[in-house]
Amino acid sequence: MADPLAGKRILLGVSASIAAFKAVALASDLIKTGASVDVVMTPNATRFVAPLSFEAITHRPVLTDLFDPAAGSIAHVSLGVDTDAFVVAPATADCIAGLALGLAHDALLATALCTRAPTLVAPAMETLMLEHPATQQNLETLRQRGVTIVEPAAGRLASGRVGRGRMAEPADIIDVLRAKIGRPADLAGRTIVVTAGGTQEPIDPVRHIGNRSSGKMGYAIATAARDRGARVILISAPATVPPPSGVELRPVITALEMKAAVEDAVQGADALIMAAAVADFRVASRAEQKIKRTGEELTLHLIPNPDIVAGIRSDTLVKVGFAAETSDLLAHAREKLIRKGLDLIAANDVTAPGSGFGGDTNQLVLIDRRGTEVLPLLSKREAADRVLDRVCSLLAERKASLPLDATQNG
Ligand code: C5P
Repeated sequence: MADPLAGKRILLGVSASIAAFKAVALASDLIKTGASVDVVMTPNATRFVAPLSFEAITHRPVLTDLFDPAAGSIAHVSLGVDTDAFVVAPATADCIAGLALGLAHDALLATALCTRAPTLVAPAMETLMLEHPATQQNLETLRQRGVTIVEPAAGRLASGRVGRGRMAEPADIIDVLRAKIGRPADLAGRTIVVTAGGTQEPIDPVRHIGNRSSGKMGYAIATAARDRGARVILISAPATVPPPSGVELRPVITALEMKAAVEDAVQGADALIMAAAVADFRVASRAEQKIKRTGEELTLHLIPNPDIVAGIRSDTLVKVGFAAETSDLLAHAREKLIRKGLDLIAANDVTAPGSGFGGDTNQLVLIDRRGTEVLPLLSKREAADRVLDRVCSLLAERKASLPLDATQNG
């Protein structure tokens, strides 16, 4: 099968970091996918790597000088417009600040202002610079604008110090790029509400009842839906991994907070995907002060939480649930499908190898009212895409079966 990047036009922006040498490998790997690659460099980046290195790999001229008459006075405009994706790698603190502010004093920044293509930024810098609030704020500004930040890794830095700030590896950047532009935008125009993480039910101001959900499956679904063009509202209980960028994040802690957030978010949405592990019980009355150890037994009075997804009634919303089971997987999942009024349930045996909490893989069984599909062991991202394939079909069926006036908004 052809690489999803084959035939795509990729614009690679290179700023002045020692990691610029890795951008040469990135350009080479991109060419191998069948993509065509144009390169724009900041003047200082050319002190680390010669433009000729990129020209030899891409067989195209490299733009380095905004005022170079040979390149034409509007080279930055045409480069910015005629591209399927803009990848800034490495992105220095200065370059990120320029992107966030919309500066245009060099060829890279001017080109960035001219592009509306999906943009990836791979930071590379010293940990102190990366962690400075100014840089973090600039990265957050870019995220809010829908830019994907390919997070830097920890390791040995140019200064000899060890810390976060090494540019992500070319293979990882290409994976993120494939995910971002390699798929059809089959959820464009759709609003998908995703819940993720594990709710926490307070006992007193410092203790809670929680569960082992990492949030990874829900975040993978939110990321995949985003990459397929959906507007994603991610209602997240606490999780162990950072949430994806480019989604509307609504953080919650308790099941009751999640219920209120879901009820609000599904208004006008097309699908609700409940990947969160919602606590079944909460403490009847939370202690106002920290409960002191007395040497006596302590009994907590627990009362049931409402079933969030079961309480959402809608003829137009596609409802998807998850069932993490430790026994009788199919029987339990089928019973939940019916009882909770779901269109689809993704069941997984959390005791099976590769399918437990916190891992990066999952083996799902997809069950709807028509039948059962056993998926192979997949990465959570691939599993997420398989769930979304089914959501797409359900949305298409729903539209076909609705009376004409009901389809107008959907
Ligand atoms: O916990 P249970 O196995 O019943 O969860 C099945 C599905 O129901 C999951 O999608 C979960 O997010 C959802 N759920 C819910 N409200 C609850 C408990 C679970 O919406 N109180």
